[in-house]
Amino acid sequence: MEKALFEVFEENLDTGLRGYPVGYCTTSRADPQTGLAYVGKPVSSMKEWKPESVIFLLLNKREGSRAEIEEFSSKLHKIAELKPETVAAIEALPKKGHPMKWLSSALLILGMQEAKADYRKDCIHLIAKIPHLVAVLINAHSGKAKTEKPDPNLGYMENFTHMLHLEGVNKEKLSEALSLFNILHYDHGGGNLSAFVGKAVASGLEDIYGALSASMCALEGVKHGGANQECLQFVQSIKESVGNTPTLENVEKAVRERRARGELIAGFGHAILRVEDPRATIFYDFCKENFIDDPLVKVALLLREAGVKVLKEDPKISNPYPNVDAISGTMLYAAGFKNPDYYTVLFGLSRAVGIAIQIVYDRCTARSGKGTPIVRPKYIYKPAGSEDEKMWKDVF
Ligand code: MLT
Repeated sequence: MEKALFEVFEENLDTGLRGYPVGYCTTSRADPQTGLAYVGKPVSSMKEWKPESVIFLLLNKREGSRAEIEEFSSKLHKIAELKPETVAAIEALPKKGHPMKWLSSALLILGMQEAKADYRKDCIHLIAKIPHLVAVLINAHSGKAKTEKPDPNLGYMENFTHMLHLEGVNKEKLSEALSLFNILHYDHGGGNLSAFVGKAVASGLEDIYGALSASMCALEGVKHGGANQECLQFVQSIKESVGNTPTLENVEKAVRERRARGELIAGFGHAILRVEDPRATIFYDFCKENFIDDPLVKVALLLREAGVKVLKEDPKISNPYPNVDAISGTMLYAAGFKNPDYYTVLFGLSRAVGIAIQIVYDRCTARSGKGTPIVRPKYIYKPAGSEDEKMWKDVF
């Protein structure tokens, strides 16, 4: 008899499909105890890798030789530039609204102007073009000058940093920080919200651009990618509370005060992980190596200890450890990227890579090449209760 993978009880309903196995993911796995691995390799083994090497691994499910990576990088370069009409349409988007709304719109625009109507080709084109697309987005949304074209002599993220108009920053260090941020956000298993949404939308045979646009709407929420912006604000608020002399004691006191007021301790806990997120560990180490004197980094490092200490006291908290967002924004800020409104866009720039590759698996490889059927879970009809009647009373 086939082994049941999951038993569904009434208490599993209305829980956001938490833990239901729904399919296969060939790019990555997020393990509760060991964290994220790409194609079976822990991400901690990849912190020195170039983005192109990690993308090659996610696409081909094996490491590329030096020659293969060079060839792959030069192929990406050849298709990295957006058409002028795509750039013009993105620059004409209404200035109002969160940059994530721009990212979703820009992906639809890219699809309208440049789609190839082939999931594999569109996946590669999207991966190649998204650094230019996001650079245009950030420059136009923040009212900066026109974006220079990608430079064929620069690497994937060096090019992105080069295209941004950021004054007074050490571009080399920033590019290093952005590369690390980029590779550690490519993927996080198959069931994270943005990946699941993208695959669900593509299951109706929507193209990669529309599916990714929906993914980016899913990513924008503060419970998902929006958390990195929120976490930076949280670290800044702790810094304000403790003043210029942060210590373990005063940071712990600030955390306890927030808990007493029923406020969220942002950056701690995770839907899957039950240990410190290995991506966070890598960012903490990078910050210690590069920005140890940065006042915000000092607070984030103390918060790492104080937060765990306080949250561990609550038996209801299953994971009191920092997740990737606890430190990623602080790292970007210390590296000179001072506009947190774009942090979730940087998350999207990265996560689009993994989602696009997962969509290709679902559409072209799954079920011996037939592809997964249209997503259609079952909901159980529930007769209306008194709360349903009250719902609309004060709406108009
Ligand atoms: C993450 O990167 O931590 C995720 O996208 C959240 C998740 O895995 O559910």
